[in-house]
Amino acid sequence: MPNQPFLTDIKTIRERARQHIERGAVTEGYTADRENVISLLNEALATEIVCTLRYKRHYYMADGLSASIAKAEFLEHAQQEQQHADWLAERIVQLGGAPNFSPEGLLSRSHAEYTEGDSLREMIKEDLIAERIAIDSYREIATYLGDKDPTSRRVMEDILAQEEEHADDMAGLLEGLDNSTNRNA
Ligand SMILES: [Fe+2]
Ligand SMILES: [Fe+2]
Repeated sequence: MPNQPFLTDIKTIRERARQHIERGAVTEGYTADRENVISLLNEALATEIVCTLRYKRHYYMADGLSASIAKAEFLEHAQQEQQHADWLAERIVQLGGAPNFSPEGLLSRSHAEYTEGDSLREMIKEDLIAERIAIDSYREIATYLGDKDPTSRRVMEDILAQEEEHADDMAGLLEGLDNSTNRNA
């Protein structure tokens, strides 16, 4: 008798794969609450869309000499938030759900806020706050997913890692801005 490398034997896995094949990637072994996972991912999707829009607004509105580095960061972040939205939409479809791209209710589904900001400093500060909100809520979603849905958890963790970089970038910009203001004072 060879060592049993899997927790469930391969014959049972093969039989189960043949059942309910219309469910695509969602197999019998999927133990998470699918509806709940889809709605959590849709909330994250709304968060990403709002963050994309906020960074885009900041990119176009940032002005002045000290804004050039911030502008480049805003644009890069906008593109990455868009990418996160795409990863989430793709995973929602794999789970047999529908990604919610509706503008109606977008802000109430989103965890982060859309704040325009009157000055460069305000913009960076609001982006940092939004990133910190995303970090906390995504970490919670990843923990909730645990071992029940490792693929969705990995998507959330990949996004989480980039949000942490974003927060770090914004904190660095804020610090740089404060230092240069102090020097000029
Ligand atoms: Fe994001
Ligand atoms: Fe971000």
